[in-house]
Amino acid sequence: MTASTPRAFWEDVYQTRRATSSGQPSAALVGVASGLTPGRALDLGSSNGDDVIWLAQQGWQALGLDISETACGRARQKAEALGLGERAKFEARDLSQGLPEGSFDLVTAFFLQSPVDLARDAILRAAADRVAPDGHLLILAHAAPPPWASDEMKARAHEMPTVQTELDAIGYTPQHWLQLKAEIVHRDGKGPDGTVAELQDSFILLQRRAA
Ligand SMILES: C[S@@+](CC[C@H](N)C(=O)[O-])C[C@H]1O[C@@H](n2cnc3c(N)ncnc32)[C@H](O)[C@@H]1O
Repeated sequence: MTASTPRAFWEDVYQTRRATSSGQPSAALVGVASGLTPGRALDLGSSNGDDVIWLAQQGWQALGLDISETACGRARQKAEALGLGERAKFEARDLSQGLPEGSFDLVTAFFLQSPVDLARDAILRAAADRVAPDGHLLILAHAAPPPWASDEMKARAHEMPTVQTELDAIGYTPQHWLQLKAEIVHRDGKGPDGTVAELQDSFILLQRRAA
């Protein structure tokens, strides 16, 4: 499809192809956040809201940001239906225009990747700046195209994140961050025709050192 802007592209995705979600949080989020004391959380590219809703259910004050108003509206409705009140909030925002003020105890980005324009490195750097002292930054990303990817996506495989490019984007330094995990992990994923294949994700978990 052709879309004039990233907003139009993602609106179309959420109005047509991604009208539903699993209702389940990311396994990586559950694995990491279950061991943390709830505080303020920020999720970048929050989609239909499953991760923010799960965080709110665990006692976090969670804010999801996504460029798609449709996705945010759907997420808001789910959160309201679950009675989460102020604990789960969603805001339609183009992350390349900036992030909300304030600091967060947990900042997450799950597969914040796009076939259309996305100033991803700048967004990740800004996100890292929002992590409070002792707070955590969790970033997962597709690190290789799946077997069912289009030829165009396979041809751009070299542009996909590696652990090093992720750390560079964030502006990682050992003086400022404790590196809890920075590696390629493998998981099973299901393609559009139901084929299962092993997928590779880059998994970054950092904790900001207290000043
Ligand atoms: C590949 S999806 C991942 C969604 C979700 N985090 C997940 O793990 O399934 C990328 C998400 O980023 C959002 N997005 C893309 N560009 C964006 C931008 N410039 N600002 C805010 N959100 C954006 C899309 O609307 C979409 O929800």
